[in-house]
Amino acid sequence: MKEEYKLYATCPLNTEELLLAEINNLGGTMGKIVPSGVSFNGDLEVVYKVSLLSRIAGKLFLELKEFELTDQKDIYNEAKAIEWDTHFNLEDTFATSAAVVKSRIKNSKYASLLVKDGIADYFTEKYGSRPNVDPKRPSVKVHLHVSKNSARLSLDLSGDSLHKRGYRKGNAQAALKENVAAALLYRAAWPEMAKENLNFVDPMCGSGTILIEAAFIATNTPAGYYRFYYGFQGWKSHNIDLWDEIFDDAESKIVEYSGVIRGFDIDSDAISQATENVREAGFSKLIHVEKSELSEFKVVESMTHKTGLICVNPPYGIRLGEVGELKKTYIELGELFLDLLPGWKLSVISGNEELSKVIPLKIDRKNVLFNGAIKCRVSHFSLDSDKVKTIAPLSSGGEAFKNRLIKRRKHLGKWARRQDISSYRVYDADLPDYNVAIDIYEDKWVTVAEYQAPKDIEDHIVAKRLNEILRVVPEVLDIEPERVFLKVRKRQKGVSQYSKSGNTKEFHIIKESGAMFYVNFKDYLDTGIFLDHRPIRKRINSESKDK
Ligand SMILES: C[S@@+](CC[C@H](N)C(=O)[O-])C[C@H]1O[C@@H](n2cnc3c(N)ncnc32)[C@H](O)[C@@H]1O
Repeated sequence: MKEEYKLYATCPLNTEELLLAEINNLGGTMGKIVPSGVSFNGDLEVVYKVSLLSRIAGKLFLELKEFELTDQKDIYNEAKAIEWDTHFNLEDTFATSAAVVKSRIKNSKYASLLVKDGIADYFTEKYGSRPNVDPKRPSVKVHLHVSKNSARLSLDLSGDSLHKRGYRKGNAQAALKENVAAALLYRAAWPEMAKENLNFVDPMCGSGTILIEAAFIATNTPAGYYRFYYGFQGWKSHNIDLWDEIFDDAESKIVEYSGVIRGFDIDSDAISQATENVREAGFSKLIHVEKSELSEFKVVESMTHKTGLICVNPPYGIRLGEVGELKKTYIELGELFLDLLPGWKLSVISGNEELSKVIPLKIDRKNVLFNGAIKCRVSHFSLDSDKVKTIAPLSSGGEAFKNRLIKRRKHLGKWARRQDISSYRVYDADLPDYNVAIDIYEDKWVTVAEYQAPKDIEDHIVAKRLNEILRVVPEVLDIEPERVFLKVRKRQKGVSQYSKSGNTKEFHIIKESGAMFYVNFKDYLDTGIFLDHRPIRKRINSESKDK
C-alpha cells in the first residue's frame, strides 16, 4: 500500500483558498486551511504533483512529529527520538532550521541547533558516527516550527521555496513573487480567458513576472518546469522513476496558446531583465517586451482580433515614485485602455488604496493579496463605456457626512483592531441631517439603517441625502455596493418590527470574542445580532467558560 503522508504547504497570505483548490485538484485529501498555508494528506505522487504543479505553494513540508513544548530540552529529546535513518543515511548530509512564534523560546538559531544535536546524537548512538551538516545543499533539510507551546518537526520537501521557478537570474526591484503573480492571475480569471486564447498585456511589466506566469498558465507549463533542485531529491523515500513519470506526464500536457502576450515598461533596465527572464523561461517566441511609456501605448494589429486581459502592478508610492504624481498614472490606466482596448478586462494590483480608487471606472470586484508585508488591493474592471464613473459633486452636507464617516472609521477602526473586534457601529446619526446608523460586519458587509426623518422635511430632500449616504458609504468603508444593505427603520410596535422582509435564507458568519454568530442581511430588518449588546455577550462568554 502506498504510504500516506501528513503534509503542509505554505503560501502567501490570503491565497490559502487558491492553494487548497490546487491541492484538492492534485489529489491531496483532508485539506484544511491554516494561517498562510494548507495542511493535507497525500502519497508520494501527491508530493511530486504539488511540488511540480502548484503555482501558489511556497514551501512543502512533510510532518514528522508534533509535540508539546514545556522545556527547550524537549526539542533535543523529541528530535533524537525520530528514526532518522528511515529518511537519510549516515553518508548523507543534513541541515536544520527553525521558526519560532509567540514562544518562550526566543532564539530560533538555538532551537535549530538543538534539533541538529538531537539528529547527530541519534546517529552517533546507533552507528558510532554522525552525518555531516551541509547548510547550503544538504541531502535533507529538517525544519522545526514552534508556535506558543506546540512544536512540529518536518522534512522540508521543497528545499528552495516553490515560488522560485528556476528561470530568474538575480533580484529585480519591486518584483512580485511568482506565486503572488499567479494568485493575481487566478483572481483575474486568466486561466479561463487563456483557454479561449485571449490576449494579455502588462503595460508596466518590470522584470516580467506577471507576463511569464501568464504564459506558464496559458501553455499549461508546470510551475516547476525549470527547477533543478527540490528538497525531496536526497530523501530516502524519493522514487526517481515515479518523479520522472509525473514530470513526463505534466510535460505532455503543455499546450499551444495562440493569443498575444506583450509587456511594456518605461525603464530600459526593467526591459533588459524582462527580456532575459522571458528567454530563460523559454517564452521568447510567445512574449514580446519593449520599452514604452504608458501614455505612448500603441495597439498592434495582433491585439485587435480578440479581447484579453490587461494585468498590471503599477508603482504605488511605497517603494517607487510618489503618491501624488502617481494619481495621474492610475487615472490614465483607466482612461487610456478604455479608449484603446474596449471590451478587454483590466486587473490592477496596488498597495495604495487611495490610488486604486482614482481609476475612473466602476469596479467589477476586488480581492486582497499581499506583496511581501504590503497589503494590496486587486481591482478588476471591465473596459466598457457604461462602466465609466460619472460623479456629480456631493452637496456641502454630503461632504460633511463623508468627512465625518472618514474620521469615525479611522478612529473606530484603530480601536476595533486593538480590541480584536471586527463588527461595530461606525456612525450613529452623528449629523442630524444624515440620520442613519451604520454598522460594519467583519469589514465585509455594511448595514445602513435609516431613522425616520422628521415630518417637516420634504421627501425629495430625504431621498437625496440617502442617495449621498449610499454613494459615500461603499467608497469610504471600501465595501462593494452590493454588500451595503439599507434598512428603513420606522417606529414599529409590538411584533411587527421582527417580521420578515425577505426569504433568501442567506446567512453569513461573524466572529466575536471566540464565538461565531449567523447573521442575515436580507430577510429581516435586524441582522440577528445587536452590535451594541457586545458587552453582555462577552460577559456570558466569560462566565460560561468551562461550564
Ligand atoms: C512595481 S513595478 C512592476 C514589477 C513587476 N510586476 C515585476 O514583478 O517585476 C512597476 C513598474 O512600472 C514601471 N513604470 C512606472 N511608470 C511607468 C510609466 N509611466 N509607463 C510605463 N512603465 C512605468 C516601472 O519602471 C516599474 O518597472
